[in-house]
Amino acid sequence: MTEAVLLVGGKGTRLQPLTLNTPKPMVPAAGVPFLAHQLARARAAGVEHIVLATSYLAEVFEPYFGDGSAYGLRLTYVTEDQPLGTGGAIRGAAEALTTRPDEPVLVFNGDILTGLDIPALLRRHERAQADVTLHLTRVADPRAYGLVPTAPDGRVLAFTEKPRHPDEIVTDQINAGCYVFRREVIDTIPAGRPVSVERETFPGLLDGGALLHGLVDASYWLDLGRPASFIQASADLVRGIVRSPAVPGEPGEHLVLPGAHVEPGARLAGGTVVGAGARVGAGAEITGSVVLDGARIEAGARIRASMIGNAARVGPRTVLDGAVIGDHAEIGADNELREGARVWCGTAIPDAAIRFGAA
Ligand code: GTP
Repeated sequence: MTEAVLLVGGKGTRLQPLTLNTPKPMVPAAGVPFLAHQLARARAAGVEHIVLATSYLAEVFEPYFGDGSAYGLRLTYVTEDQPLGTGGAIRGAAEALTTRPDEPVLVFNGDILTGLDIPALLRRHERAQADVTLHLTRVADPRAYGLVPTAPDGRVLAFTEKPRHPDEIVTDQINAGCYVFRREVIDTIPAGRPVSVERETFPGLLDGGALLHGLVDASYWLDLGRPASFIQASADLVRGIVRSPAVPGEPGEHLVLPGAHVEPGARLAGGTVVGAGARVGAGAEITGSVVLDGARIEAGARIRASMIGNAARVGPRTVLDGAVIGDHAEIGADNELREGARVWCGTAIPDAAIRFGAA
């Protein structure tokens, strides 16, 4: 039986205000909490038991996902009273696993969308007889990530977390947030104190002579930590650019959930999703965006690459481009909010009050 640990306890500060009331893995992408896509993908790869390592807003996961049987999985919840970091969370969650010491355990960050061939990662781990095998991906600008150079045979040579100096940028391969650990290696992570797997565990294992392997995989990969990438991921799921069995519909230019109402003459494109009970007025144009449940988009609004929170309202003719609108916020008519604009939950903006970042 293949078991996995899914890390879902982070505060998701970069995604605020969306993560003030909802933990990042529960924010909807393509109509369902993002976590549902990860569970479905893990199940499709043959994983049968997943331990969810929760901390921030931990209480919301189990009421939604229950024992996992609806997803064809067994789910167990392990909660840290104080966040223990990625390594501490893996160590704590592993207590709930039944995997034998010499068998592999999968570990997933809860905020990565990827088309990775998970069985191929497991096969590489077995073939290399590695202590840990990491999924690596190549990015154009690796500075915001953990760099992982490898030897031609895949052996990891070093870990450089978020390099500051140009000399440190020795590769474009980065830690993609999915690992296979030999079970007994997890038991060497100190228990009961915060540990970063990226900054402490992996470099420590390497220094201690452990065998770490990296599998560079060129399939779809996106880190959903920032609003722009979260919105992009949702649109890519809706359009089928990356496939998830959890998307509630066929791939297409838009996804309108049951109970939403879109007036004739409104235009939805670019993988836009409109949540349950949301309303879109006549002549509104929404491209590549996420409209959450119960939101109201008034007539003639133009929205691109934005996220509209639960029960928020966007007034007539208002333009949003790269904006994040918190739950229950009210944006009046004829406003213009562009790149990076974030409106906090419950905020009210009067008519024609803002032209943010307009050309
Ligand atoms: P930011 O605050 O925006 O950096 O997001 P984050 O809190 O999610 O941190 P980060 O993106 O570095 O976390 C990577 C993954 O590890 C995410 O899936 C987090 O949910 C998870 N994670 C981070 N810290 C903890 C922790 O202390 N406990 C648990 N259980 N999970 C964590």
